[in-house]
Amino acid sequence: MGSHLIKSPNTRIWPHSATINKLDHLEIAGLDVCDLAKKYGTPLWLMDYASIFQANEACKRGLEHYPGEKTILYAGKAFLCLAMCKIINQLDMGLDVVSLGEFKTALQANVKTQNIFLHGNNKSLKELELAIELEQCKIVVDNMSELTLALSISKSKQKKARILLRIKPGIEPDTHDHIKTGQETSKFGIGLNEINEYLSFINANDENLDFLGFHAHIGSQALELDVFEDSIKVLGDLSLKTQSVHGLKTRLLDVGGGLGITYIEQDKPPGLYEWSLTIARSVQETYQKLGLDLPHLMIEPGRSIVGTAGVTIYEVGHVKRLANNSLCLAVDGGMADNPRPSTYDAKYTAKIANAMSSESAEKVSIVGKYCESGDIIVKDAGIEAGTGDLIAVFGTGAYNYSMSSNYNRTGRPACLLLKDGQADLILERETIDDLIRQDRVPAWLARER
Ligand code: LLP
Repeated sequence: MGSHLIKSPNTRIWPHSATINKLDHLEIAGLDVCDLAKKYGTPLWLMDYASIFQANEACKRGLEHYPGEKTILYAGKAFLCLAMCKIINQLDMGLDVVSLGEFKTALQANVKTQNIFLHGNNKSLKELELAIELEQCKIVVDNMSELTLALSISKSKQKKARILLRIKPGIEPDTHDHIKTGQETSKFGIGLNEINEYLSFINANDENLDFLGFHAHIGSQALELDVFEDSIKVLGDLSLKTQSVHGLKTRLLDVGGGLGITYIEQDKPPGLYEWSLTIARSVQETYQKLGLDLPHLMIEPGRSIVGTAGVTIYEVGHVKRLANNSLCLAVDGGMADNPRPSTYDAKYTAKIANAMSSESAEKVSIVGKYCESGDIIVKDAGIEAGTGDLIAVFGTGAYNYSMSSNYNRTGRPACLLLKDGQADLILERETIDDLIRQDRVPAWLARER
């Protein structure tokens, strides 16, 4: 198919518009990141617009081969803020939200309600009410008590809830256990053996429940394509049974996200184009072979849209040599702005942003400043930096900001969107005052002794 010739954005480590300039500094979108660090401080999150744009383009090109309707839903959990929602609108993507926070951010940024899909395994009354109130919004149902609650809200509001059922296809990608979701023991979704009960329930309440189709998401950071094809086969068989036994058509099929990105050279994910093309072909073949109408196809990538767009810039503080003679560079951020290494043993690539061509055979670890031994960002960095150097960690666009914390009472970094020589602040740096502002002291403690 020649798709291997296309270098999709998720198969590279650096952002799309990253280069090295004459000063040997990292440059993104025509901007010297050392200048940005000086102006905005460190740690600093940078997001390259071109990478996001190109990722969406690659998906679009792959899906062009699908003859039916198709939509790319961006999984907001990877990275969401008002500016990201505006990008979603601009690129004509849909959005998967999993909390009232993501939902309201989307609404505030005018994401069209018909493009919003509400996910989650414990949707609150407020979340369901909002989704049903907005009518065009879709609810991806996870369990029976949620479906029952959605029905009672729809009845009381005299509305129709538009629903998809999230199923567990029993397919497991080869990834970290914490980010597998397709297996039968997963906390997410409905087992295949339970689905009849749901479909009968929907049919019995079709005045208030509009069945649109199915959703499956098997996991994240998957590096092979066959698991996606396997999951689509399960969805196809289910659609056939659903139509023949319950008379319900799968009009919409959301096959999830989960494509991995290149964090280190050894990672070899398929490209986004190849992934979306494989999905397009597989859904077409599966549904046509079964004699079913082609559903409106949705893919739901998160990490592969924003992951490679992100770079974190840190400044090296103190440097020390450990007993095993390895060099340890301490930077001014760490697990609070990137909990992935300590949570999943995730690997990252780092370079010296102000001396990009420098390399070292020394064993160097880049450690964070937080009070945990596991706060190590890169174990074998292959760089030798000193106090005051700037470190660029690549591939931090997904699940960094969205999973960040205020551990050790530290404010979150600022985030800049970089495009065509322009840097715009999209997330203000959290200050210590921002943190203290939320504090309350009980009156009995406020009286000083
Ligand atoms: N759709 C659903 C229903 C999901 O649960 C997820 C991710 C996605 C789409 C997007 O998956 P992606 O394309 O980003 O792999 N915090 C972990 C990843 C958790 C993924 C949760 N669900 C990490 O940092 O690796």
